[in-house]
Amino acid sequence: MYQGKCVILGVTGGIAAYKALDVASGLRKKGIIIETVMTENATKFVTPLTFRSITNNPVSVDTFAEPKIWDIQHISLANKADLILVCPATANIVGKVANGIADDLLTTTIMATKAQVVFALAMNTNMYENPIFQSNVEKLRKLGYGFIEPVEGILACGASGKGRLAPVEQIIAETLIYLHRPKDLTNKRVLITAGATREAIDPVRYITNHSTGKMGYALAEMAKRRGADVILISGPTNLVPPPGVTVVKIKSAREMAEEVFRYFDQVDIVIKSAAVADYRPAVAVSHKIKKKDEDLIIELSRNPDILYELGKRKDKQVLVGFAAETDNLLANAQEKIKKKNLDFIVANDVLVPGAGFGYDTNIVKMITPDGSIEEYPLMSKEEVANKVLDKALKIYNSRYLE
Ligand code: PMT
Repeated sequence: MYQGKCVILGVTGGIAAYKALDVASGLRKKGIIIETVMTENATKFVTPLTFRSITNNPVSVDTFAEPKIWDIQHISLANKADLILVCPATANIVGKVANGIADDLLTTTIMATKAQVVFALAMNTNMYENPIFQSNVEKLRKLGYGFIEPVEGILACGASGKGRLAPVEQIIAETLIYLHRPKDLTNKRVLITAGATREAIDPVRYITNHSTGKMGYALAEMAKRRGADVILISGPTNLVPPPGVTVVKIKSAREMAEEVFRYFDQVDIVIKSAAVADYRPAVAVSHKIKKKDEDLIIELSRNPDILYELGKRKDKQVLVGFAAETDNLLANAQEKIKKKNLDFIVANDVLVPGAGFGYDTNIVKMITPDGSIEEYPLMSKEEVANKVLDKALKIYNSRYLE
């Protein structure tokens, strides 16, 4: 599938530069051609010779070096790239690209390419958290640049926090996802719900749950990359929505219901990954409730079950639910498929480390009404998203195209 694809590996000057060798080696094993472009600073950490030996290809550093065969190197590299992966990517390279600076071979190549560019970030925590860096990332995300987020850990400077390069296997897996991007959802409208809802107790307090929106945003991003027209109905979250997606922000379950019902007739696939509050305070008090000595009892009313309603209204749409369980995963999920008239459900046990709320990964089982179960190991939420989309599309095609 990846045989003969060309990845330009941009290496910038950070202590994690040596890990890019393992990334290069892993990608080569998939049949991918790697051409390395190093910044001058990167050569202080690892020599070009090491990358040349691992990739079996020449390594470029200097824009003005005499090429063996005449060509304008940053243009030829930019044109041959199926993908540019910058690994490790420092705050400096992100800042340069975000501000249109092209002053060496790597930045001119990035500026000249039409291929997807992905930054695997690695830097000191304070640099990562610096609002200038974060606004550069946000600007580039909106323009369609990809990011592989750093992870928490002990950093080279001795500090501890977010900034370590993501594990090599994860960088390889995400690079393969970026490379394998069939536009198989072109002409499909996909509605995705993400995140938690907030149910107001009074103007300053609310009931909610631990959903961060990561699963839903990964679904939206993958669906968009595969060519779908995506409507993302999102509860409150700090995540940046993928570029090109129609985002509808809601707070409560009732607001989510209203928006989902508004779009339902216009879409082909619905994926409800949001964690919707089943109950809300029966009365949302209009002023802040004053503290008293005695206990406070809040009466709760049932929220609409949005997915159940969709199941009743279902016409042509493929309807996919998620089930967040802590016990009896399969039995509970199977009951929800029947009750909500779903095409399949994605069940995750939210007590298992690496699965469910807040993680960048998930462990899921996909269950169909006939009782068949597909079990998946720990995967990134982007990989899970692609599996969910593969299955939804297969059902859609078997229903309408065969
Ligand atoms: O956002 P993250 O931090 O990445 O976490 C991801 C996740 C754990 C939230 C996600 O993987 C997940 O499991 N989402 C479904 C959570 C949930 O509400 O499950 P449930 O079993 O309570 O609901 C079953 C289905 O009915 C869900 O598709 C839900 O969206 C839907 N529902 C539930 C209640 C309700 N009132 N209306 C609904 O539509």
